[in-house]
Amino acid sequence: DPQAVLEDIHYQFQLQPSALISLAKTFLEEFRLGLSNYGQPMAMIPTFVTGVPDGTETGTFLALDLGGTNLRVCEVVLNGDKTFSLRQQKYKVSDTLKTGEASVLFDYLADSVDAFLTSHSDDTVSSSADSPDVLPLGLTFSFPVEQTALNSGKILTWTKGFSAKHAIGKDVVQLLQNAFDRKHMHVKCVALVNDTVGALLSRSYTSGGCMLGSIFGTGTNGAYVEKVSSLTKLGNSPAVAKGGVMVVNTEWGAFNNSRSRLPSTPYDNILDRQSINPSFQAFEKFISGMYLGEITRNVLLSLIDAAPKPILFGGKSTASLNKQWGIDTSVMSDVETAFENSKHTTENPIPKFSDFQDSELDEKTKAKLQAIRSVIINRLGYEETDVCLRDAAIVKWVCTLVARRAALLSGVAVAAVLLQTERATFADAQTNGVYTDSDERFKVGVDGSLVEFYPHFEGIMRESIRFIVGVDVEKRVEIGMAKDGSGVGAALCALQAIKQQ
Ligand code: BG6
Ligand code: GLC
Repeated sequence: DPQAVLEDIHYQFQLQPSALISLAKTFLEEFRLGLSNYGQPMAMIPTFVTGVPDGTETGTFLALDLGGTNLRVCEVVLNGDKTFSLRQQKYKVSDTLKTGEASVLFDYLADSVDAFLTSHSDDTVSSSADSPDVLPLGLTFSFPVEQTALNSGKILTWTKGFSAKHAIGKDVVQLLQNAFDRKHMHVKCVALVNDTVGALLSRSYTSGGCMLGSIFGTGTNGAYVEKVSSLTKLGNSPAVAKGGVMVVNTEWGAFNNSRSRLPSTPYDNILDRQSINPSFQAFEKFISGMYLGEITRNVLLSLIDAAPKPILFGGKSTASLNKQWGIDTSVMSDVETAFENSKHTTENPIPKFSDFQDSELDEKTKAKLQAIRSVIINRLGYEETDVCLRDAAIVKWVCTLVARRAALLSGVAVAAVLLQTERATFADAQTNGVYTDSDERFKVGVDGSLVEFYPHFEGIMRESIRFIVGVDVEKRVEIGMAKDGSGVGAALCALQAIKQQ
């Protein structure tokens, strides 16, 4: 019975409030493990950033950003009044570079900086006052790196489809500096930041404080401000003697790599098995832009191949549906945008398979489904005659199922940080709406294509936060885009590094 198949899929993708709460509890356990031990999947990396900016910082810096959709080189000017200006050039990183020799990848990074400097040679970057001949550069490197100082750290592992050889265990700042030096460039990499730390710092710079920087893009991760005394794995290091706070890069993409709690479906398992890092980055594989399209492709294929009778597209698939990674998450986003409901709703009704009658649809729904049909034809490579309105309704429903689960899980991560930093307790969920006496705002800086472009992503994240820590806390969470966060964050770190020299 096709309807039963759809209902079964629907059921597999549901996340009840009790499941969200239990995931948040496991999050706290894994936070604690990572804060007290090295070598944990959730790495809880000390970043050696010991404060957040307040907007008065000034200076001009180069920034290089690797790990999102694009490689970017920027020149950032911090004006010291919470504003900045930024010029940037984006470059593509080919799969060959991502998976080839690391030295070739880093040569390409140096070439990109060189090209940027050459093309802006008349009016670019004045060097720092202390070392007039050398341009200070902050590197945003959006991968797990075990930092030992602001300007050094070893690459722990690659994520998000990168696997360049001879990089793991090496100092990333050194790899980049060597590439600059091979080209005799007068550029010095003075600071290293993760993109989440960049988001945290830049949000803090523009809004005078921030508790969490997080990325929901190609990958997902978060960095927050923690008490140094909780970072017990630092032992007796000088940082511990100084006390205070330190920004911790959680690497929450690796939450629950054992998958003991994550709601895996067969569609997730196929993705994981066929990925280049099976059983790693488990949480990220449920959430981020690199993976949502692939989960959706797996669900759609199961409906196309359903026996004894196909449930979708009359059993016909296309080249992009047949290819691993053949559906980009932006296709889902286009489908949902075509359906666009300006209001966020928690409803995602299962299409009625057998009695789905085009003629009974109201004009508005028909127009929306027509728009989705066009997206399917254009982006999945179908012929006009292959796709009916019922197919469009089913595809829309699948996209929402997959994306909604992702956004709910994203909310768990944010709630876990609220709990970890004692801004909330689990009991707050029971006292919904009772305590409204605090004005304190919990500022969260976010960046990444999902949270920026996917319809209702933030609204659904908030639903999840409400389930876990209640509406009073959720209301106080201020989520704001940390646009250009990586560039500004890297510049702020470079500034701190130069001051410490
Ligand atoms: C960008 C940052 O703005 O957002 C990157 O500069 C970051 O460092 C990225 O990784 C995340 O978004 P996406 O969608 O490009 O992965
Ligand atoms: C991956 C990386 C992490 C990064 C995130 C977002 O999870 O491991 O370092 O912050 O993607 O780009």
